Amino acid sequence: MGRDLACVVLAAGRGSRMRSARPKVLHPLAGRPLLAWVLEALEALAPARIVVVAGPGGEDVAAAAHPYAVATQPVQDGTGGALAAALPSLAGFDGQVLVVMGDVPLVEPACLHALLDAAGEGAAVLAADLPDPAGYGRVIVNTNGDVERIVEEREANAAQRAVRLVNAGAWVLPSQGLGRWLSALTPDNAAGERYLTDLPGHMAQDGVATRPCVVGDPMALRGVNTRADLAALEALVQGRLREKAMAGGVTLADPGTTYLSWDTALAPDVTVGPCVAFGPGVRVDEGAEIRAFSHLEGATVETGAVVGPFARLRPGTRVGAGARVGNFVEIKAATLGAGVKAGHLAYIGDAILGPCVNFSAGAVVANYDGRTKHKTTIGQGAMVGTNAVLVAPVEIGAGAFVAAGSVITKAVPAGALAVARGRQEVKPGRAPPREP
Ligand code: UD1
Ligand code: CA
Repeated sequence: MGRDLACVVLAAGRGSRMRSARPKVLHPLAGRPLLAWVLEALEALAPARIVVVAGPGGEDVAAAAHPYAVATQPVQDGTGGALAAALPSLAGFDGQVLVVMGDVPLVEPACLHALLDAAGEGAAVLAADLPDPAGYGRVIVNTNGDVERIVEEREANAAQRAVRLVNAGAWVLPSQGLGRWLSALTPDNAAGERYLTDLPGHMAQDGVATRPCVVGDPMALRGVNTRADLAALEALVQGRLREKAMAGGVTLADPGTTYLSWDTALAPDVTVGPCVAFGPGVRVDEGAEIRAFSHLEGATVETGAVVGPFARLRPGTRVGAGARVGNFVEIKAATLGAGVKAGHLAYIGDAILGPCVNFSAGAVVANYDGRTKHKTTIGQGAMVGTNAVLVAPVEIGAGAFVAAGSVITKAVPAGALAVARGRQEVKPGRAPPREP
């Protein structure tokens, strides 16, 4: 290593092939933006600086790039123009400039290390041997094995299209001369863009060779240009995450139907039933069971708890050890103490339930008054009966008993029985006659 390193992420493209109002690099892959994957790979290299190039109006991209510097490419005139836009942010820097594409999310630090080594004092481009190279720039090498030129698909003739070695989109370039070479790029091509891929020709004139560096899993070096590309990479990542979970001691009843996020943390001896989706921010502790068709995001499930089938845990949920959350129960921003039972058809939002509370079928917390969310607390061992409505803010004391069908609007002290419903009348012999 030795030489200083600066990294530039090109993330200003319109991503027109995605047909999306959202910038391409912000589309999620396993629960986080493409850009976040790229930044994580770069962080592993501990560079002196990271610059993200965003398009005009790229506030969302800038937010996702935080805390790194953001350069704006005023006109989206190609990958060469994008790197040129980063030059002011590289002022005073002397060393290797690593350029990566914001839409190639699975590029690995090991590949980038190899690329830096391949470049040495000169330049290098990451290349991949793809069985189906369609859509990528083809790398043409000269007799020395250096890059002679890179031909974009739209300009390639039949012979060039047959080349399987493609530009995977990562470059190492020497900072000295970069400004001059970039200003030599012209948009005289089919796309009318300034192509970064024209750089090797200009560098060669100054005696700087570009080495092709073929490393890494070619599938993982694919870029995201279309929704189909995104789906293909999602499948690849899901496969990896499932393998990792199982290697870590998790039972997946039907791995192909378990959907994980990049940060899903499943402890050993967790069991996951078929068709379960984990959004970002989920932790499940040892021995807990997530049953079929459950959906979790931003939730913690503690040791030995059982969730589902058909449960929904929304952000801010904490299910205590040994608790039981059953079918058609939705929980949001709520803590359930150890041993709580919410077995069927319930909604619990903005609430704290002490240990061993029983929250019966059909009971709900009415946490929203149309303007504001309010808090509910339920003390240890309390029993909330079937179809009860707890109108927040409200407090139910430890060991209290809320009768079925009650609408509770006032605090229920510890140990009290609260009944809040119409009294039953029984009229003997007055049942209307029914057909046999
Ligand atoms: C580019 C390469 C191609 C390579 C492929 C690898 C060029 C000319 N082509 O093609 O050789 O095989 O990547 O995946 O470099 N961007 C900007 N500003 C722009 C245009 C693009 O910042 O004006 C950014 C995009 O946000 C994207 C990246 O550069 O993250 C690549 O742009 P894209 O249009 O997807 O290039 P490709 O056609 O995939
Ligand atoms: Ca691309």
